[in-house]
Amino acid sequence: MSFKTQALSLLGSISLALTAHGVAQAADSNKVKVGMMLPYSGTYADLGNNIDQGFQLYIEEQGGTLEGVEIEYVRLDDESNPSKAPENANRLVNRDQVDVMLGTVHSGVALAMAKVANDTDTLLIIPNAGAMAITGPLCSENIFRSSFSNWQPGYGMGVAAAKELGKKTAVTVTWNYAAGDESVQGFTDGFEEHGGKVLENLTVPFPDVEFQALLTQIANIKPDAVYTFFAGGGAVKFVLDYAAAGLKDTIPLYGAGFLTDGTLQGQGEAAEGLYTALHYADDLDVQKDKDFREAYEKRFNRVPDVYSVQGYDAAQILHAGLKEANGDFSNREAMVKGMSESTYDSPRGPLALSKSHNPVHNMYLRKVEDGMNKLQGIAVANLGDPAKGCRL
Ligand code: BEZ
Repeated sequence: MSFKTQALSLLGSISLALTAHGVAQAADSNKVKVGMMLPYSGTYADLGNNIDQGFQLYIEEQGGTLEGVEIEYVRLDDESNPSKAPENANRLVNRDQVDVMLGTVHSGVALAMAKVANDTDTLLIIPNAGAMAITGPLCSENIFRSSFSNWQPGYGMGVAAAKELGKKTAVTVTWNYAAGDESVQGFTDGFEEHGGKVLENLTVPFPDVEFQALLTQIANIKPDAVYTFFAGGGAVKFVLDYAAAGLKDTIPLYGAGFLTDGTLQGQGEAAEGLYTALHYADDLDVQKDKDFREAYEKRFNRVPDVYSVQGYDAAQILHAGLKEANGDFSNREAMVKGMSESTYDSPRGPLALSKSHNPVHNMYLRKVEDGMNKLQGIAVANLGDPAKGCRL
């Protein structure tokens, strides 16, 4: 249990003043309450659902308990709305008395969750949002990421665009918020370090999907390639619009892998041949991934994607803490040691966390072929994050 719920159970008279729900939680030391703050609606809804399912799958594989500790879920739809995020995260911690927060997808929402986690000394595992500040200046003992920092896939694609694919100039297009800005920064770093030049950065507000004006600008500039960060419903629309504008065959479209992960069904033929970089692919020669994909399909009747993997690995990270703490969640020192120092058998391949608690992992170059993100090679092996400003 969290320090807070432990304290409440000691202070019997105060806990009597709580709701019956709160008292029951404080009294039950063999349970960990996980607050799943994810987008269950809006453009990132599929991403949130897949994270949730990946997390569930791992817990179910362990029989519903981790080191004898039962896992209980509280779910909250964050709608990918940063303005509601402080209130939502505070509600989970203070009203629902969760022990761990799991979330979220959108960087702006995750930044607010990180602040609440730090203010209330609550453990937070981030299963997607890549905001660099969270494993940079805002890094903290109690915050972990099972996914990536926004810079990493961008950097991998920038290196591959210059080195493997031989491009000299590029235009970038993205949503105008932390994830897009940082993804473009990663691409620019990788591309320009290897001789490329970014000519122009184009943006639209999140979550707009009105792309026609940008496509006209791209056609006028005529770069060697276009780099994008879009995900979920926006990624489906961008890829369809790009092909419909007749650009696909003249100016190659590249992306952080979110462009084509979990989106291929909606994109169909328009996505065929697109190159992206990500820490996952659909045909990795990794035994853990083969087992994971089979189990996921059997359990949920659909194929997993990178978000499912990140949810699964978030549960593995929680488990590593509980292993080190022998099932005693209140032993924060052991929890943090286990979570940060373990190496993980991830479906993505080798996974470890850096000092700032951000994944160090391979960035794969993938190409869409026959409706799958097929591995072309490793763009950058064991890539970490700059983690600038982190003092852990
Ligand atoms: C983000 O906001 O950090 C993000 C959202 C979707 C996919 C990848 C990153």
